[in-house]
Amino acid sequence: MTDSVFKIAVLISGRGSNLESLLKKQGLYSVGLIVSDNPDAPGLKYGSLYNVTTKIINKAEFALKKDFQEALKQTLLKGNFDLIALAGFMQIINKDLIETFAGKMINIHPSLLPKFPGLDTHKRALEAGVKQHGCTVHFVDNGVDTGPVIAQSELEISPDETEESLASKVLAYEHRLYPWVVEEIAKGNIRLVNNKVEFADNI
Ligand code: GRF
Repeated sequence: MTDSVFKIAVLISGRGSNLESLLKKQGLYSVGLIVSDNPDAPGLKYGSLYNVTTKIINKAEFALKKDFQEALKQTLLKGNFDLIALAGFMQIINKDLIETFAGKMINIHPSLLPKFPGLDTHKRALEAGVKQHGCTVHFVDNGVDTGPVIAQSELEISPDETEESLASKVLAYEHRLYPWVVEEIAKGNIRLVNNKVEFADNI
């Protein structure tokens, strides 16, 4: 791939199935770096499988959260990425990083935001008795799952739904939605302007 390809970094903490979905769809964009805050993240294996550099910035080795965030910032600045995609990255990004990468940092979340930010979204959706559930890709701000929404995939919850069945259905939707959003951003069809998401007419 040439330098002109839209280059992204993917940040993970665990399993990495969304990372894999992004790696599989490379073409309009390429994954230049995988960063994990967890040295034991199973998703790190995709680095060798797809020949992408991995970098561990172990949260546990930093006494201060701000030093961890600074190390993350320096790593991301060095790579000169067009976009940073959080994929199961279990850290709240601080204001400094949000400002440094304004409009260039996105996240995927397993609920129809603003419903169910945070953890255990499938369990909470079932307990709340909602009829629809799904996933959201949004620009990152310094709240928990609160940034401007880019796109959502929605599904009906069936009467016999369990937390496990719902989690696996939503995950399959995530794996389609996230690469699509990254491709559209790479094509210049989605942008963040004055903290609002703008879409090109053709999508
Ligand atoms: C996904 O459900 C994602 O939406 C959420 O964390 C989970 C990560 O899963 N932010 P994986 O590591 O991509 O498999």
